[in-house]
Amino acid sequence: MHNAAFAALGLDCRYLAFEVELKHLQAAIQGAKAMHFLGLNLTVPHKLVAFEMCDQLDPSAITWNAVNTIKFEKDAEGRVRSIGYNTDADGIVASLHEDLKLKLAGTKVLLLGAGGAGRTAALKLASENVAQLFLVNRTQGKAEEIANEIRRRFPSVSVFVGYPADKIDLILNATSLGLKPEDPLPLDEAHFSFKQARYAYDMIYRPAETPFLQAAKKAKCKTANGLGMLLHQGARAFEIWTGQKAPVKEMRKALEKEIYKNSLKTGAKSPSAKSHHPKAKTHK
Ligand code: ATR
Repeated sequence: MHNAAFAALGLDCRYLAFEVELKHLQAAIQGAKAMHFLGLNLTVPHKLVAFEMCDQLDPSAITWNAVNTIKFEKDAEGRVRSIGYNTDADGIVASLHEDLKLKLAGTKVLLLGAGGAGRTAALKLASENVAQLFLVNRTQGKAEEIANEIRRRFPSVSVFVGYPADKIDLILNATSLGLKPEDPLPLDEAHFSFKQARYAYDMIYRPAETPFLQAAKKAKCKTANGLGMLLHQGARAFEIWTGQKAPVKEMRKALEKEIYKNSLKTGAKSPSAKSHHPKAKTHK
């Protein structure tokens, strides 16, 4: 998607993927800086470690305790500095907005999953002033921990651990259930019916339609998968690196072509489509 964006804007840049062992991450960041790269993307586990390795952190990286985007920038004395950002959380909100036309303030949301992606989503939803947030997770203690953090940081949000009894606006899957065809649904339909929700969003984007989204569609929910999240965290990174507005349409087209064509060709061989391979991607 980034190469499509560079082409669309006529920028002489390339986005490349590199496998970097965690023990070499510091050297790789220094090397990229020395070679005048514009920036880097990183994913798990590198994005958690890179937090300690940047010369400066943007508030987004501090908020989410992770760096998925680095920009190399010259300071007033001409020294190049690495600045760490996090664009993941913005990606969630931008996708809900664009793909579902959903504005979060004042809504009631059921969030399934309290792992890395679930925690980021929960805190971001709270920061967007959802009215009520229901957290459900196999390991209930993790949902309780996030609920307590939200009560501390966003006291105006009513947060509950467990299923809502009444109607809600959005149900969001942030678990990894649905990546494999044999996975059960990430929710217990004895406790919650899709008919109680207006919108359903699955962070998984491969397969394009999980059983979760199929069930939601059947119940007449408006649905979207996590491709938009991937797109928008990338679009935001693109804007950080280039200072130009990201050509989102071209980026989406390239992403869909790459992901859905390849997955058709290779069947179910794709890796986790929610959290990608640990590798650093760079471009100049
Ligand atoms: P990610 O970074 O993608 O969020 P993760 O941190 O490993 O990955 O989180 C995976 C999420 O899927 C968690 O909410 C996990 O539940 P637990 O916290 O109880 O582990 C959930 N999950 C994974 N496999 C599951 C399963 N078989 N049944 C229910 N939930 C599952």
